[in-house]
Amino acid sequence: MAPGAARLVTNAVPSGPMPIESPGGEAAAPPVFQVRGLSKVYRTGEVEVHALRGIDLEVRRGEFIVLLGASGSGKSTLLNILGGLDVPSSGTVRFGERDLSAAGEAELTRYRREHVGFVFQFYNLIPSLTVRENIALVTDIVSDPMPIDESLGLVALMPRRDHFPSQLSGGEQQRVAIARAIVKRPEVLLCDEPTGALDYETGKLVLDVIARINRELGTTAIVITHNAAIAGMADRVVRLGDGRILSIESNPHKLSPSELKW
Ligand SMILES: Nc1ncnc2c1ncn2[C@@H]1O[C@H](COP(=O)(O)OP(=O)(O)OP(=O)(O)O)[C@@H](O)[C@H]1O
Ligand SMILES: [Mg+2]
Repeated sequence: MAPGAARLVTNAVPSGPMPIESPGGEAAAPPVFQVRGLSKVYRTGEVEVHALRGIDLEVRRGEFIVLLGASGSGKSTLLNILGGLDVPSSGTVRFGERDLSAAGEAELTRYRREHVGFVFQFYNLIPSLTVRENIALVTDIVSDPMPIDESLGLVALMPRRDHFPSQLSGGEQQRVAIARAIVKRPEVLLCDEPTGALDYETGKLVLDVIARINRELGTTAIVITHNAAIAGMADRVVRLGDGRILSIESNPHKLSPSELKW
């Protein structure tokens, strides 16, 4: 449902009532996300699918969270609700002090534009625009973007700024998609199987970029993957099964992607 939305999530309007917090996320700071009793039921005709069945979760500022779980366990549904692309059937989702579960469509759109960077398995770049121009679609309309070249520097693609997507490898295209997601300086970076279409080595490069952004910009990152080896990179690993949280594990010794063994 979500991938096509990525290219729309690019606008910015002056900020709403967001709490001001220090990047370190001191004790006084509320969590970035606070999820309580979150359920999602999809109804299509006679068929009901219980995608999420009572999720409780807090995500702290600057955390790197990996979301694991079998196909159909509800990972994308949860990420989409956190990103304001979908709404819960019941329960609450707060982003800082903002209640996303009570927000209307216009407020959710504003929330996505201002605060959320999305990265999906497929890159959703505009083929007729260069790398720079793809990112400029965002910087033209947000209030305080970083310079395009800075975003390209973070993904190590400065020399490719005037190339078209078709002239780039899959991993390079995904790095452009990451640059496009972070150029607006989002508080959260939500990634749904960002390495799903990439080979082993390329996938590692892309993860390295996400880890670096989390580290250097302090951007809270939530990454869905089918690859349990990626879990070694995370501060916490959340496992979903059949719409429920099966386990949440903290990772005392975070590994860099280059140390991961797949
Ligand atoms: N728009 C929708 N309409 C109906 N059912 C849906 C919809 N979106 C998701 N579902 C169902 O909700 C359940 C959870 O889906 P979700 O996409 O969150 O799983 P997932 O863990 O991301 O799986 P995958 O690893 O295959 O991407 C699945 O049974 C799916 O079929
Ligand atoms: Mg999914």
